[in-house]
Amino acid sequence: TICGKRKINNKRVNNKIRLNEAKVVDMVDIEDISEKAAFCRCWKSKNWPYCDGTHGEHNKECSDNVGPLVVSRKQK
Ligand code: FES
Repeated sequence: TICGKRKINNKRVNNKIRLNEAKVVDMVDIEDISEKAAFCRCWKSKNWPYCDGTHGEHNKECSDNVGPLVVSRKQK
């Protein structure tokens, strides 16, 4: 099955984010996360590394079930 409009290589996960880099690594300072942050795991967000909801389109188009990693602070 081929999903997505921009197919480069069927084995790739990332066909969009910073393709000119050998490895995409992002750093987020935990102090910058106030209560909660959702990080993209579908590699299609326009607000990388954060989730922008694009996984919904991907899941519909590809019959997939991916979603974000949500990091939240414990309630005190
Ligand atoms: Fe990629 Fe939500 S946009 S997981």
